[in-house]
Amino acid sequence: MNILVTGGTGYIGSHTAIELIGRGDEVVIADNLSNSKKSVIDIIEKITGKRPEFYEIDVSNKPKLEEIFKAHKIDAVIHFAGLKAVGESVFLPLEYYKNNIMSTISLLECMKEYGCHNFIFSSSATVYGDPHKLPITEDFPLSATNPYGATKLMIERILTDFQFANKDFSVTLLRYFNPIGAHPSGLIGEDPNGIPNNLLPLVIKAAKGERTLNVYGNDYPTPDGTGVRDYIHVCDLADGHILALKNTNKPGVYIYNLGTGKGNSVLEIINTFERVNNVKVPYVITGRRPGDIAACFADCGRAEREIGFKAKRGIEESCLSAWNYSKNH
Ligand code: WQD
Repeated sequence: MNILVTGGTGYIGSHTAIELIGRGDEVVIADNLSNSKKSVIDIIEKITGKRPEFYEIDVSNKPKLEEIFKAHKIDAVIHFAGLKAVGESVFLPLEYYKNNIMSTISLLECMKEYGCHNFIFSSSATVYGDPHKLPITEDFPLSATNPYGATKLMIERILTDFQFANKDFSVTLLRYFNPIGAHPSGLIGEDPNGIPNNLLPLVIKAAKGERTLNVYGNDYPTPDGTGVRDYIHVCDLADGHILALKNTNKPGVYIYNLGTGKGNSVLEIINTFERVNNVKVPYVITGRRPGDIAACFADCGRAEREIGFKAKRGIEESCLSAWNYSKNH
């Protein structure tokens, strides 16, 4: 199939593009490089032996987007492109709403005009807010505690309403938990521009001696007091997108959690990272980070039943691959 991957030079998008090319799909990448590098295209070619078509555009720029749909018969769109820093979104709400919402609307307009009826959306567990119990299933109440999470919630709603009005569309919402790790080649991984927000890149900076890790609170109601999350290897996440293509040309709205079904604490991640990589991760316990929840992990039973998704890799492999990638970069 011809797959348009928006945000395809980003962390999850690039790992997914590699799997798509590996199974014989033609991949077209659209990315504005706001949080990634053009060199990722060369790396995708090096790993797969095939160079994806690349358009350096802002996905919300509809005329530019139309050029892609005119040049290629796109069979499905996997939409990763979007601003995704929780903390930043609190201070730049208009940028987040404009970019994330408008890019999705431009995409849907083009898809309708050019006869592409299959949409897979990169959503997030953040739409569950602070869950009333664990593990989380897809029918849990939804809420947003920051503008980033609000854009994910709004886009899920836009896609649901759009599919109701366009019954021949297939829409799949993939709710990611905490993606970590890197491709086994060590050539591609999490490489955010600027100061990272997420835990693993900061664990790596601490292991490299660049900065001490702040552990945001050890007074949560969790086994060791630190925050618990469902850390899923980025390659398992990529596999989840390949499996979601099973819904292609099956009209409807499909919603799946993509996680491991297990929760690990910050200290467990630090201890695992130190053990498997034989390094020290200097850290200090500080106060809680505003907006953080105590614990969050997935029930992935529906994804397993409906599309055969099951995470195969554990936090050991995630920590090993993340460190392996960082040593080359
Ligand atoms: C994980 C745990 C922190 C940094 C966010 C988004 C979510 C998704 C993943 C995009 C928490 C602790 C972290 C640090 C720490 N993003 N931590 N010290 O907040 O669970 O989820 O990123 O889709 O939508 O909400 O991820 O990696 O920031 O934090 O102690 O320096 O690590 O308190 O318990 P989070 P995270």
